[in-house]
Amino acid sequence: MIQYSDKNTVTITPAVSGLRGEITVPGDKSISHRAVMFGAIAEGTTEVTHFLRGEDCLSTIACFRKMGVEIEDTPERILIHGRGLHGLCCPQTTLDAGNSGTTTRLISGILSGQPFETVLTGDDSLRTRPMQRIIRPLTGMNADITSVNGDSRLPLRIRGGHLRGISYDTGVASAQVKSCILLAGLYAEGATTVTEPALSRNHTELMLSSFGADIRPEGLSVTVQPQPRLHGQKISVPGDISSAAYFIAAALLVPGSEILVRGVGINPTRDGFLKVCRKMGADITEQNLTVSGGEPVADLLVRSSSLRGTVIEGSLIPALIDEIPIIAVMAAFAEGETIIRDAAELKVKESDRIRTVTENLLAMGADVIPTDDGMLINSAAGHPRPGGLHSAQIDSHLDHRIAMSFAVAALSAESRTGVSPDATIIRGGDCVSISYPGFYKDLEGLLL
Ligand code: S3P
Repeated sequence: MIQYSDKNTVTITPAVSGLRGEITVPGDKSISHRAVMFGAIAEGTTEVTHFLRGEDCLSTIACFRKMGVEIEDTPERILIHGRGLHGLCCPQTTLDAGNSGTTTRLISGILSGQPFETVLTGDDSLRTRPMQRIIRPLTGMNADITSVNGDSRLPLRIRGGHLRGISYDTGVASAQVKSCILLAGLYAEGATTVTEPALSRNHTELMLSSFGADIRPEGLSVTVQPQPRLHGQKISVPGDISSAAYFIAAALLVPGSEILVRGVGINPTRDGFLKVCRKMGADITEQNLTVSGGEPVADLLVRSSSLRGTVIEGSLIPALIDEIPIIAVMAAFAEGETIIRDAAELKVKESDRIRTVTENLLAMGADVIPTDDGMLINSAAGHPRPGGLHSAQIDSHLDHRIAMSFAVAALSAESRTGVSPDATIIRGGDCVSISYPGFYKDLEGLLL
């Protein structure tokens, strides 16, 4: 059972029977952001269905409205009346990206191409996140960007225009950095090439190409030609695999479960979670495979399974970076050791997820050791309680993925002997609205 004790505290008791039924998760967050941004700088109207109305994507809409883009939001669709590549207006006030790293980094690429000055800021969490990774390449392209407090963090003051193309090695597998540079490249003189150490999600490449840009991936590089005419598109956003992951994990962990998750985007640059689930012994079947806007989509049939530990590393990390908190929860219930490494990027997400995942897992009695670039789970031979967690007090640190991961952990938790009530309490549970406003209701719907 899931209860909201007050506005920001969620109390979850363990599931008494398996999850059953069907669910369609909200639209993909990365794709929803891009649909608004590319629609805004295209000519004509872009129509988006199954758009994610999470706070992050609403921040993107608000920023573009401030730059004169008319965006209609109806229950069935979002209509973006594009102003063309050079049609954005100078906003009268600071642009606020809220909690959204994707809004910040992608919009910075677009702002760098504008002949006006903007100031971009965000909430407490976003203002701690590193921006040097975009300041450096954008400055190399001739944009004038200063961090207002001189600390390479938000707020950023961006004076754009007169960009030159660049060939840039990002040094980190980040779709936000890659997309930022590619978007600036649309406004530059000459081609822009971005190379990354491992392939990050390629939604920008797929969608920009469908809008009419000349953008070509080759191995770990991608090259964009400048000054395209972009044309408004009809976009049907697939279900977000990052949101589907919580229901998949819950169904795998709670005995007697069988659920169908409909219409999930399974782009190979995003499906690392499914690959890891299968390596852990999960029973997941893909059905009704289709392709929408270049993005592969499938229904996923999931049945409870006994999981075993695994190693998660290397080029797989970017394909599941947002799913590591829920994978860590699954690993705590699995037989044997799980090693997560090469994932230092976790430290610069909405929270330091190496710390917030391991702290909360420890509170639930897990055998987990944080490392510099990941964590070890169930590594102690002869750990007194291998596998399994008990109810506890969880702090989301206002990180949506931490709140959702530990809501799933709570469903499978055992009661802690002598401790009453037999429930997990998630402080700051409301933050799920960043990416999934109806999360608790949807989870409860499968438990009835
Ligand atoms: C995103 C890229 C990833 C991911 C984020 C969304 C995107 O960030 O963690 O949730 O939409 O491009 P990085 O590019 O920083 O890895």
